[in-house]
Amino acid sequence: MIRDLEIILGITGSIAAYKGVILARELVRQGANVHVVMTANAKEFITPLTFQTVTGNPVTSEMFELLTGSEIGHISLADRARITVVAPATGNILGKVANGLADDFLSTMIMATKVPVLFAPAMNTVMWSSPAVQSNVRRLVAAGYNFMDPESGELACGVMGQGKMADPMRIIEKIKAVLTPNDMEGEHVLVTAGPTVEHIDPVRFVSNHSSGKMGYALALSAIRRGAKVTLVSGPTLLSPPVGATTINVGSAEEMANAVLEVAPTASVIIKAAAVADWRPTARAAAKIKKAESGVPPLELEETRDILKTLGERKPEGQTLVGFAAETNNIEENAKIKMVSKKLDIIVANDVTRKDAGFHADTNAVKVMTSDDKHIGIPLMEKEKVADRVLDAIVKYRRRMKAAKHS
Ligand code: CTP
Repeated sequence: MIRDLEIILGITGSIAAYKGVILARELVRQGANVHVVMTANAKEFITPLTFQTVTGNPVTSEMFELLTGSEIGHISLADRARITVVAPATGNILGKVANGLADDFLSTMIMATKVPVLFAPAMNTVMWSSPAVQSNVRRLVAAGYNFMDPESGELACGVMGQGKMADPMRIIEKIKAVLTPNDMEGEHVLVTAGPTVEHIDPVRFVSNHSSGKMGYALALSAIRRGAKVTLVSGPTLLSPPVGATTINVGSAEEMANAVLEVAPTASVIIKAAAVADWRPTARAAAKIKKAESGVPPLELEETRDILKTLGERKPEGQTLVGFAAETNNIEENAKIKMVSKKLDIIVANDVTRKDAGFHADTNAVKVMTSDDKHIGIPLMEKEKVADRVLDAIVKYRRRMKAAKHS
């Protein structure tokens, strides 16, 4: 999503300017073309050469240095970019933009741009909570400017409180959200992800290869599109998506309890988790000792089919989406699951492919809807697959609403 994006990164005079370097580096790593604009005060904290080296582009700071031919520097740069990010943003730049002042390159460029602007403020707690800064922030929000609010913690001046510039990875997530249309606003999306673990004894368990990546990508994508997201996750190595309510579970039974509690308030449920179909009939309270028991018999019983239960209880207007992990007869098997579990949509996954399915960062799926639309999603990053799956869900819900009203 960041790949090939033209981004203007404004750096203002704060000690957090060094975090601007981390942000620039990560944006470049993700494939963006980053143009840094520094204020005079920013150059007291860090040199333009650092940003030039990291981004591979010249750094701009002087008001009149970019006049080439008929192009006016601040306007041509502002027009080319998809977004302007000011990180760190001081109280001074917020005050200038809120009050229509343009006395240097950065403030002039912000005034001259039509692209979205995202501020990530960084300042001392007292400054951040001051009436002047807070009223400027309110005014800027009302005017359509975007904010990544500062975090709380120990500030560079030694004080504890809110004022630290948001973590660069969170700012990147916010950039993606700002650039994504809010077509899921008002929806409550419940996503399940990852494997479940079914214990044999306190140290041994039965599980599967699910990494959780597909479910987490779906949760993130839904957040970016403006949805409220609840993620019910089995054990994974992934960080919880910022902006989601994450409920961590272990076994299929724990997942069932969490999902069935949240489900009545969800408008969309996406079951990307690889739920264990069977669990040991008994869980030993203490570790089974090899010398005492030899090879123990492993007797299994079926777990509750969460998706099937959801299908049976589905309230009107809820869209239920299942995943089908298949190794053969993929479409036929997936369709049987869609009908038998009363789903609206099924996402069929060939888990024998090395470049798709469980552990891969990429996936290739087929989305099938109950009104008989088939959408093939070729091999791409799971983040993009998630976007396409959500496109299909949004369109399906629009079709259902239109059909209801006709
Ligand atoms: N699922 C579930 N509860 C279970 C088993 C599966 O909610 N106990 C859900 C999965 O989250 C997925 C869908 O059902 O969305 C299909 O899972 P899959 O393992 O492909 O199919 P199964 O129904 O278990 O059938 P089979 O294993 O025989 O293919």
